[in-house]
Amino acid sequence: MQEPAHRLIIVSNRLPVSVERGPDGSTLFSPSVGGLATGLDSVHDAYDSHWVGWADVDIGDMTLAEVADLTRTISTEYRCTPVFLSTEDVEGYYRGFSNRTIWPLFHYFTRYAEFDSGMWEAYERVNRTFAEAVCEVARPGDVIWVQDYQLMLLPSMLRERIPDATIGWFLHIPFPSYEIFRILPWRREVLRGLLGADLVGFHTYDYARHFITSCTRLLGLEEQTGRLIVDERLVVVDAFPMGIDYERYRDAARTPEAISEAEQIGLRTEDCEVVLSVDRLDYTKGIPERLRAFGAFLDRYPEWRGKVTLVCVAVPSREGVETYRQLKMEIDELVGSINGRYGTLEWTPIRYLNRSLPLETLAAMYGAAKVALVTPLRDGMNLIAKEYLAAHDGQGGVLVLSEMAGAANELGEALLVNPFDRDQIVEALREALLMDEPEARTRNALMQRRLRRYTVAKWAAEFLGALESAKTEQAGLDARRLDPEQQEALISAYRKARRRLLLFDYDGTLVTFSSRPEEASPGPDLRELLRRLAEDPANDLVIVSGRDRDTLEAWFGGLDVGLVAEHGVWLRTADGDWVTVEPMSDQWKPRVAGLLEMFVDRTPGSFVEEKDYSLVWHYRQVNDELARARVVELKGSLASVMSDWNLAIMEGDKVLEVKVADVNKGRAAHLWMCREDLDFILVAGDDRTDEDMFDVAPEGAWTIKVGRGPTQAGHSVRNVSQFRALLTDLADVSRKGGTRV
Ligand code: UDP
Ligand code: G6P
Repeated sequence: MQEPAHRLIIVSNRLPVSVERGPDGSTLFSPSVGGLATGLDSVHDAYDSHWVGWADVDIGDMTLAEVADLTRTISTEYRCTPVFLSTEDVEGYYRGFSNRTIWPLFHYFTRYAEFDSGMWEAYERVNRTFAEAVCEVARPGDVIWVQDYQLMLLPSMLRERIPDATIGWFLHIPFPSYEIFRILPWRREVLRGLLGADLVGFHTYDYARHFITSCTRLLGLEEQTGRLIVDERLVVVDAFPMGIDYERYRDAARTPEAISEAEQIGLRTEDCEVVLSVDRLDYTKGIPERLRAFGAFLDRYPEWRGKVTLVCVAVPSREGVETYRQLKMEIDELVGSINGRYGTLEWTPIRYLNRSLPLETLAAMYGAAKVALVTPLRDGMNLIAKEYLAAHDGQGGVLVLSEMAGAANELGEALLVNPFDRDQIVEALREALLMDEPEARTRNALMQRRLRRYTVAKWAAEFLGALESAKTEQAGLDARRLDPEQQEALISAYRKARRRLLLFDYDGTLVTFSSRPEEASPGPDLRELLRRLAEDPANDLVIVSGRDRDTLEAWFGGLDVGLVAEHGVWLRTADGDWVTVEPMSDQWKPRVAGLLEMFVDRTPGSFVEEKDYSLVWHYRQVNDELARARVVELKGSLASVMSDWNLAIMEGDKVLEVKVADVNKGRAAHLWMCREDLDFILVAGDDRTDEDMFDVAPEGAWTIKVGRGPTQAGHSVRNVSQFRALLTDLADVSRKGGTRV
């Protein structure tokens, strides 16, 4: 694995190693269970990393020296820093908010989700404890990679403490649809907590989309190609399906020890096929549903009785949470009742283990099983499915997999089932048991090739690579930011100039956006500022806007400024007349207007603005996702009209404008820019329509984009107020007689 330039700090709730205290006070270490721990453990091995996480051990009766000793051992032997939590915090944060609120909600088990402000407070408190622990470990330049749903506030808490830190966050469980996520009383706090990261990663593209939808709808953020701007900082959101250490599982299954272990436990016999089921004992895994389906299978196909055994491994998990305790009882009873009903003295239908197994034994079981029955009701990824396939490298063995597992996206050649459909599971199980070796091999080969390529090492490398790219992208955006030195240079150039041209867009540049365009009229401060700039005899000030001429005339008619309306259709001449840049037709308007009206009817919150030579569809108040879909649709519907009339579509900030092609702000701006005596040009704008002005600006012109985002402008300022502050400085220069006309 490639080493990153800086140290990697992995932060997760659970450390990869679990600590237990023996009755004699001795400490025992064992690997932690769960996909996060097994997956990231091999990343930890391969990188120069350090891991911060909760050591799930009660230190209440330990002396300070014993705790220090334990900390030292964990640190030196496992490169981990343990976080110790009080019983109360474990109850509120771990058993409570993490596992009784977020876990059920994010897995769509809304009926199990509890909402309790005490648990939320504990969650906040413990996230802060983690923030402090990380800050003690992290050195400048380290990459901090936060894991999973227990630490969703941590990215922002770290960002506050270390503003320049490189922070990634990855979710190992599903991110639910907006309709489910919005139920959470602390939904906005959670999103803001996560957005402290530079890169937010999920197993699947669907989860990433759900997250983005929640950010746009609950926080009003805007998204473009998986990028969100949060407090003027870029946050990237993407999908990284977690893989496995393929070779490890492939090799472990075929060691002589593994094969003999499987034989010893009676799994490799000629006359009885093994169906394997392995999970943490969790209600999301669909274990009772699977057992019932197996019972139904024996019922429907009695010829299989005595010829198939379900080996069901249910690893104890979260036993301090009531729903898990109840689930355990349900499973115990079900196993008992199915075995009691169908079993014989020679044959036990279900062999049930309620404990964790070491990798070697697990791999032996994978290798011996003809079928793996992996039918979670909802699962972020599910590594068991992948590990089973790796253990069958180059061989048959049939995977029956739930559509509700993230892994189903990559394992389409498995027998996919809806885990809620018992009949379908029964039939899939029969098909799997009857499937011949060549077909099973062919199906597996395709999946195995993918798993071999996209391993856990690749997954980590891709995530960390994307995190580095996000930082580079942020730096690129910041590089254009007009810094104090450049601002000084601009002001100095302005001071020295004899003939200046100032070309400013209006909305988004001189004023911030309002939800209705007529509300964005210039206030007295802005009018005064523009008057002062226009009054300077060395200045030509032009407002280049998409607005119609009546509005511009009403707002700026009294000022000595040039005006361009409708994105370059109309110019106001020196004697106050409005002329079009070239002869134009508006005969196309009724046809386009009819189309746009249809879209208004179907898109609540949108409306049409009519200008002399253009029609504008405004959708600022439309839900982001709907708007995105409608824009695509509208463009499709407009296609034929566009070519008939030589029209063009121009996409501005939440507007889509249809106008005559080849007329744009750049062409209009050029009429002013081509004057020869100019020795200072300042062009400013905020959206795509202003890029045409930047495009035609001659070398040496100062071009400024107001706000973030890709641009051809040479510089950018954060927002309207920063740009207005710059203009105020320029107006002060003019007043102090800096102008030498
Ligand atoms: N596992 C294990 N011993 C067991 C059962 C499971 O080490 O007895 C490991 C298994 O190899 C896998 C992980 O636990 O890597 C389970 O991950 P998965 O993504 O399937 O489910 P999660 O527990 O994360 O929900
Ligand atoms: C899932 C979660 C992990 C968690 C694991 C075991 O894999 O995504 O964050 O560690 O389950 O659960 P536990 O509550 O025992 O840590």
